[in-house]
Order: sequence, then structure tokens, then C-alpha cells
Amino acid sequence: MGIDVVLLGYGAIGRAVHRMLAPHAQDVRVLGVLDRAALEGRTGATRVAGPDGHLVPVMDLETATERADVIVECASPAAVRTYGPGILGAGTDLLVASLGALVDDRLRATLLEEGPGRCHLSTGAIGGLDLVRASAGTIERIALGTRKAPAALLHPGLADELRESIAAAGAAGVPRHVFGGSVADAVRHFPSNINVAAALGLAAGDMGLVRVDIVADPGATLTSHVIEMRGHGGNYRFAIENFPDPANPATSVLTARSMVSGLLRLGGRGPHFI
Ligand SMILES: NC(=O)c1ccc[n+]([C@@H]2O[C@H](COP(=O)([O-])OP(=O)(O)OC[C@H]3O[C@@H](n4cnc5c(N)ncnc54)[C@H](O)[C@@H]3O)[C@@H](O)[C@H]2O)c1
Repeated sequence: MGIDVVLLGYGAIGRAVHRMLAPHAQDVRVLGVLDRAALEGRTGATRVAGPDGHLVPVMDLETATERADVIVECASPAAVRTYGPGILGAGTDLLVASLGALVDDRLRATLLEEGPGRCHLSTGAIGGLDLVRASAGTIERIALGTRKAPAALLHPGLADELRESIAAAGAAGVPRHVFGGSVADAVRHFPSNINVAAALGLAAGDMGLVRVDIVADPGATLTSHVIEMRGHGGNYRFAIENFPDPANPATSVLTARSMVSGLLRLGGRGPHFI
């Protein structure tokens, strides 16, 4: 019983998932990690230190797909693009955190429709996706308002204009609206920071329905997401305030928890809400 998994990405989320899975080893066993830093030989390691100090094998894609029931992506949208089709094509299941990768229509179709492995999407840093999914096809409007500390929005590939706008919020010490637009544009500018927007688009069945606004707030100690949806079933508003992960302020502690919850479900542990 239970499932064997390999962690694709061993940063803030991967390590937290590994640590949180320790008490559930009879349901979900971590066989190893597949992480760019180790595989590209930058560390030269064939094993990396796990949460309790014991060594965890570093695996290549072939070994990982041979041995794992599920590969757990907590790396980056690029990792989903590079490894996702091969994992599913080999018949291994994939759990994805970097949902922003799925704004690409072709990749989304490959991952969600081709198989033979099954692609599972993590609820990640938000809740309410069950309700959004249940409303798919009847949604008139859905909006996401995200508020993060400037440090949680900055990343090396950011366009100059956005970088300056976010830095100005930090320097002035006042909140500033730094982005408004579509899920596709939000993901293009913030590929690893706004996966929740893609999650909503995927649940709604139409990325184009979701309007995204981002505020850089130097006073924010929590990352907040307000989701407002109007549809045939009613009007809904979810307000989520997450503690940022100390290991990576761009990530919320809830993301790893959501992945663990999803894996325990795949490993057979209830109760299940459907
Ligand atoms: N769904 C959500 O709500 C949600 C929330 C937060 C983060 N995320 C996603 O999770 C990802 C990981 O977050 P984190 O905080 O752990 O990041 P992190 O930077 O702390 O760790 C990422 C790890 O993945 C590895 N990696 C990156 N790209 C890779 C590749 N192409 N191949 C193999 N390994 C690769 C890195 O070496 C690093 O060890 C983010 O990039 C983001 O896309 C999703």
C-alpha cells in the first residue's frame, strides 16, 4: 500500500514536503530527488542531505520515472516544460506546483490529455478551487487580487519597468499597484510568483476569464489573495492570508502543506472531499 514519489525540485517547497511527509512514510515514501543544481553537477553530489540529516539519492529522469508512482514538481515552470511530457509519456504520474507553465495551450493539452501518466494539479497557495471548478462554464467574472511584500515579487528576469515600480513601493514604504492584466501576462512577468492565477484559470476552464491585480506592499507580513467570482451559482469571495515560507518569501507555507495533503490523498489516506 501507499505510493513512492520523487521530488522534482529540492528547494523551499521540496524540502518542506519531504519534512512533512516523514510521519506518513507508510502512505507516501520519498525515494529521491531530481534537482537541477545536483544534476548539472554544480554540487557533484549523488546524494543530498534530507530533513533529518539522512542522505537522499539524487536521480536522473529515467531512474525517477522507472521507480516512482508520482513525480512531485516543486521546481519551476521551466522544469514542467522540460520534464513534464517525458514523465507522463513514461506512464508515471506528475503532481504540478508550477501551474503557470500550463498557460501554454500546447503544453497544457500535452500534460492534461495525452498521458498515459496522469497529471495532478496542486491547489498550492489558495483554497476555493473546488467551488471555482464546480462553477466552470457558468462563470461571468473572476478576479484575483494579490498583495505581497516587494521581496516576494522581485526575481532576476523581471522587466525593468516592473522592477522599478516594485522597488519604488519598497523605497516609499507605501503599497503600490504594480500589475493589472490577464493570467498569461501575469505569468509572463512573474513566472514563479503568481501560480495561483493559473490555478484559477485552470479551475475556471478558461484562463481568459481571470483578471489579475498585484500590489507590492512593503508593510505586508503575510501574502494575501482575494478571489471574487460571480456566476450562475451565486457570488463568492475568498480571502486568503498566507505566512510566507522563511526559506523563500515568494512561496507560502501552505503550498507545501497542499502538496502533502494531495499526496496523502493519492496514497489512499482520507477523508476525501469530492
Ligand atoms: N501553486 C502554487 O500556489 C505555488 C506557490 C509557490 C510556488 N510555486 C511553484 O513552486 C516552485 C518552487 O518553489 P520553491 O519556493 O521551492 O523554489 P526554490 O527556488 O526554493 O526551489 C526550487 C528548486 O528547484 C530546482 N529547479 C528549478 N528549476 C529546475 C529545473 N528546470 N530542473 C530541475 N530542478 C530545478 C532548483 O535547483 C531549486 O532547488 C516555484 O518556482 C513556483 O513555480 C507554486
